[in-house]
Amino acid sequence: MIRLILHGCNGRMGKMISGIAAADPEVEIVAGVDTRDDGQNPYPVFGSLSDCNVEADCLVDFSTASAVDGLLDFCVEKGLPCVLCTTGLSPEQLAGVKKAAGKVAVLRSANMSLGINLLLKLLKEAAGVLAPAGFDVEIVEKHHKRKLDAPSGTAIALADSINDALGNEYEYVYDRSGRRQVRPGKEIGISAVRGGTIVGEHDVIFAGEDEVITFSHMATSRAVFGKGAVEAAKFLAGKGAGLYDMGDVIG
Ligand SMILES: NC(=O)c1ccc[n+]([C@@H]2O[C@H](COP(=O)([O-])OP(=O)(O)OC[C@H]3O[C@@H](n4cnc5c(N)ncnc54)[C@H](O)[C@@H]3O)[C@@H](O)[C@H]2O)c1
Repeated sequence: MIRLILHGCNGRMGKMISGIAAADPEVEIVAGVDTRDDGQNPYPVFGSLSDCNVEADCLVDFSTASAVDGLLDFCVEKGLPCVLCTTGLSPEQLAGVKKAAGKVAVLRSANMSLGINLLLKLLKEAAGVLAPAGFDVEIVEKHHKRKLDAPSGTAIALADSINDALGNEYEYVYDRSGRRQVRPGKEIGISAVRGGTIVGEHDVIFAGEDEVITFSHMATSRAVFGKGAVEAAKFLAGKGAGLYDMGDVIG
């Protein structure tokens, strides 16, 4: 039985994971941490990590970027493996993630779904063929109106995967409204749509001379992220220091 601390337990993803863990005999949530408590959780909830003294095998985080620095300090101090799912981290925070991973196991993935993690691999192959043939790369992502960060961490991860395959020579462009110039070849445009209750949609468009190839992924329920996070926790519990991602979990 893998004992989990759920950080951000009363958010939308936290509630989803509580339900998934309750139905999974291999995991148990032994404590939750959240700045708000509705008294509805079947496990103890602490207002801050520093108050949480419950023994666990792994921490799963779906909270907010401003909470991540303290969370990493806590995991390093306790030697607690951490599945870090919160998005919108700054470059400094990403450097902090790498530093923490030198001391404890950290698995970070902007998108915990199987489909997106497979897509990250497929895009490398597609980019390696299409970019040298002159195809331009554009990414369009769509999410619900309550999402705070833009573009999505998944859109950046998709762009990073393509850029890695192309020698990291591409610039990311988020807004072309202030410029008048022909599109340079070595850029990846990333556009964000926000509205309603869209769970998460990503289109990666390779636009060439007279043909367009689009890779589309649509999440229709947050459950895909929750299931992925629980599988990631099972994988990470007991692992030594290092930076892991969902690619390691799906093999
Ligand atoms: N990696 C993925 O696959 C994936 C999927 C979905 C969402 N996310 C990300 O996960 C995060 C949470 O998403 P959500 O939709 O559940 O958001 P949410 O706003 O519904 O929930 C966040 C929860 O964190 C709590 N919180 C805020 N500050 C805190 C702190 N200092 N300590 C502890 N808890 C704190 C809030 O009270 C809230 O209950 C976001 O960054 C989102 O983009 C990632």
